[in-house]
Amino acid sequence: MSNMIVILGASGDLTARKLIPALYNNFRKKRLPEGTSVLGFARRPYTDDEFRQKMKEAVVSFAADDFDKEEWERFSGLLFYHQGAFSDEEHYQGLSQRMSTLGSAPQNCVFYLSTAPEFYPMIVTHLAAANLLSETEGGYRRVIAEKPFGRDLESALSLNRVLHGALQEHQIYRIDHYLGKETVQNVVVFRFGNAIFEPLWNRNYVDHVQITVAESAGIEHRANYYDTAGVLRDMFQNHLLQLLSLVAMEPPAVFDADTLRNEKVKVLSALREISPEHSARSTVRGQYEGYLTENGVGRNSTTETFAAVRLFIDNWRWQGVPFYLRSGKLLKEKVSEITVQFRRPPTQILDVQAGKTELFTNRLSIQIQPNEGMHLRFLAKVPDEGMQTRPVEMAFNFRESFGAKAIPEAYERLLLDALNGDASLFARSDEIELAWKFIDSIREGWKSEYAPPMMQYEKGTWGPRAADDLLGRDGRWWGQGSGNDDGPMQNPIARA
Ligand code: BG6
Repeated sequence: MSNMIVILGASGDLTARKLIPALYNNFRKKRLPEGTSVLGFARRPYTDDEFRQKMKEAVVSFAADDFDKEEWERFSGLLFYHQGAFSDEEHYQGLSQRMSTLGSAPQNCVFYLSTAPEFYPMIVTHLAAANLLSETEGGYRRVIAEKPFGRDLESALSLNRVLHGALQEHQIYRIDHYLGKETVQNVVVFRFGNAIFEPLWNRNYVDHVQITVAESAGIEHRANYYDTAGVLRDMFQNHLLQLLSLVAMEPPAVFDADTLRNEKVKVLSALREISPEHSARSTVRGQYEGYLTENGVGRNSTTETFAAVRLFIDNWRWQGVPFYLRSGKLLKEKVSEITVQFRRPPTQILDVQAGKTELFTNRLSIQIQPNEGMHLRFLAKVPDEGMQTRPVEMAFNFRESFGAKAIPEAYERLLLDALNGDASLFARSDEIELAWKFIDSIREGWKSEYAPPMMQYEKGTWGPRAADDLLGRDGRWWGQGSGNDDGPMQNPIARA
């Protein structure tokens, strides 16, 4: 039995930056199943050797620390290339023949759709017509689809219909690379592997939750895509709502793909849609100054490069607890962080300095990236100062505890899971559809008379002031930075 990964769109950026470096790392770690080969398929006329050379350059630049010439020589022997056009049905016959010359039957095959998403329906239809998706010969056939998966509920439903016409749901692996991040998976271990947090993880003890995915980079060379998407589609529909599901879900009874995803679906089903009338009160949208003059951006573009959203999950655990989500481009720092802010304890019984600990709350910050780790803030007595108190922190850092190289790239894990048939870290069709339904409700509001104004923000800041007001109106404030005392969740009053 042989295993083959066929990458459709193999001459593109994703293949060079992420997929091949991840496969190479898996090979080095001896995790790639025996008899695996990788066949690139794209329009460019490469020979096998030219493809290998291109991929070598990519691995040297993107997995540079770990480049090992001998390992590469062995690995590159597994790489092949077949030229073809996605739109030409006959080229899939050629692909099929090439696949049979490279591997022995029965073949296990993963087809990786690493092309622009508009090609997905065509590719899947042609793969099916060439009989490449049928599992009847004894080997599995799987398809991995990169994001974006549709651009609204309607297009996602239609894409799911095409995929379900050719494949069963268990054959489809929809990537959300945030789920491949170690720190994101650790949210589940942290919540359900420890006795001391889960009992507090509900509306009785939690005041609110914040999820920030801030980027210091801009839209780079992706204006054509980004200007038709915006941050709600690019980041919220997938990454932020996936983080939200993991933070808010009930413990799954067993740890398998379907049970886990059922729990996430329950969270997404309980999201209270944001009606147009609530649009301006619950959402903020922004565009960084200078966006309209970026190459490839429409001069009157109303695409948002920043958004902040206040949402509620209408279930027993979370009723009445606000979740504040924000994400944007060209912000002050690259930082992804989940903060659980607990209710305020009655610290007035302590002899506190007015205006300081009076506003104290316990807070747990989960740093997804960078400085992967966690910070728990609690109150302590200042020695030799009567009953004066001060917030202090307990910190855990992944790299300190597990070594500098402990955190692999998300794609390493995701590719292996797809080869091994574990879909836990991939999005199921109902998750995708519910997420779009929620995002569509926001977008409807933005088209309505109740829409929040598009705010401009300066590059290198934390976004428009309106995002602070979103919390300020509720008597809350954003955490910013990364876990030191001047950093996240510092109350501006307390800091003064
Ligand atoms: C992608 C978005 O899904 O995630 C990009 O399309 C964004 O716009 C990227 O930059 C962020 O990923 P990460 O892993 O760098 O946080």
